Amino acid sequence: MNDREKRLQGPGRVKEVTSLSNPIVKDIKALQLKKHRDEQKAFMAEGLKLVIDALELGWSMTTLIFAKSARGNPLIEKTAARAVASGADVLEVSEKVLGAITRRDNPQMVVGIFKQTMLPLDKLKPAGTDVYIALDRVRDPGNLGTVIRTADAVGAKGVILVGDTVDPFSLETVRATMGSIFAVPLLKSSAGEFLFWREKINALVVGTHLRGSVDYRSVDYSGRPVILLMGNEQQGLPDPLANGCEKLVRIPQEGRADSLNLAVATGVMLYEIRRSVLPDGGY
Ligand code: SAM
Ligand code: CO
Repeated sequence: MNDREKRLQGPGRVKEVTSLSNPIVKDIKALQLKKHRDEQKAFMAEGLKLVIDALELGWSMTTLIFAKSARGNPLIEKTAARAVASGADVLEVSEKVLGAITRRDNPQMVVGIFKQTMLPLDKLKPAGTDVYIALDRVRDPGNLGTVIRTADAVGAKGVILVGDTVDPFSLETVRATMGSIFAVPLLKSSAGEFLFWREKINALVVGTHLRGSVDYRSVDYSGRPVILLMGNEQQGLPDPLANGCEKLVRIPQEGRADSLNLAVATGVMLYEIRRSVLPDGGY
């Protein structure tokens, strides 16, 4: 018996699955729907690099799925062994099953199922040069994923989801984060909780608004933590949230566009806020 056969015979950790009607596959496919992600408190992330990064960062993986054609790939075999050791189920599946799980024609060779992590806002105490991004009712999965990725890039400490937002654990959002979903803590609050919390912390709460009274470049973001508050894609910040900001800034625009895309505006703000903190790379 070779190693692989031993594993297949072992405590049943590595299972070979080729049928779409296999109940484990059905459970995993169900993760495409928010309702089932909520039930299982789980989500799916695609790609070997993402899975390895997630494990490095200490995320707990419940299931590792890899393509039969990846058999013999040393890095994938190593990751599978590591997954088995950590108590995860490991499934070796056909291309067809992998495509159905991820709804892709050319699926990645590896998919991991992870436990969702979302923290409540009330215990959070920003300090030093911490930056957090608060998103008011963000609607678009691509925007949310892009903001999480950008938050990671500038070294922000977390993204706060305010009010009723799109699910950060949808496949579309996770894809758009390019792995940063595993690096950036997510917090959740209602608008009311956010306004209550912001009174208790010592931080600059800066909102962005098309009718903001100051140019975003004229504000001093140094010296204390910053909470950057961004408005909903359609409606912008509602008055109660706008009034809860110490500063309301505007990014100047020319041309015909009414506004910037939410994720682009967040990127512009974050690089200004982090200007003095991010290393200059020694150019
Ligand atoms: N129709 C919305 C409005 O009237 O506010 C536009 C919302 S915009 C697409 C989404 C969010 O991005 C805004 O709520 C704001 O937080 C930010 N944003 C976009 N362009 C901006 C600008 N030029 N100045 C300040 N914030 C901006
Ligand atoms: Co169900």
